[in-house]
Amino acid sequence: MPPRWRKDLERILITERQLARRVRALSRAIQRDFAGREMVVVSLLNGTVMFLADLIRRLSLPLRLDFIGVSSYGAGAASGELVFTKELRLSVRGRDVLLVDDILDTGKTLARVRAKLQALGPRRLRTCVLLNKGARRVEKIEADYVGFEIPDFFVVGYGLDFAERYRNLPFVGVLRPQVYHRAGPDLDGVGGKPPAGLAESQCPSPRRLRPGPVSSA
Ligand code: PRP
Repeated sequence: MPPRWRKDLERILITERQLARRVRALSRAIQRDFAGREMVVVSLLNGTVMFLADLIRRLSLPLRLDFIGVSSYGAGAASGELVFTKELRLSVRGRDVLLVDDILDTGKTLARVRAKLQALGPRRLRTCVLLNKGARRVEKIEADYVGFEIPDFFVVGYGLDFAERYRNLPFVGVLRPQVYHRAGPDLDGVGGKPPAGLAESQCPSPRRLRPGPVSSA
């Protein structure tokens, strides 16, 4: 890990190389499933910025891109309320739609946004997430395309933030608990969602990280 980040991060959970390989595999699966019709990619702001850019540049099929801005407010997200900060502008009625998010955690965000899109009458609606943190799921929802299954760690980087920081890291890392424990109400941004108690020994090495299934549905 670059020395600059050692103070804040425990470890790298997913390396740049692992991300690149897995995103390539996801793109291939999506390309195969969506071939033949123009698709609409709907991406959730802000955490998808890097994943989305890497994913869609590998899709050689016609697509249109739009964004929905949504944020969960409230520590731990259990009491978190969703706030829409940008609405969809493209029409998705009768379209093949891919909804992209960076992480599926409690599932509240994806479930709510998926229902919102479904109500607009797409021909087909599929979901794609880079990370799936099944341990904290509250809603009954799974994504159609999953990059990596991850344990209940507080992860940052490759678009994911804590209090709007760390999004620029080219890898996914595990934030040191003291960073989010010492963070007070002075933080600008409230994006952090500390994991429910977790022992350090539960952290897997990146090599043991198992990619999630790539759906062909
Ligand atoms: C994060 C993340 C997902 C959502 C997942 O968004 O980007 O959209 O939380 O959590 P859930 O499954 O528990 O709903 P956040 O509100 O932190 O905004 P951000 O994308 O701007 O970081």
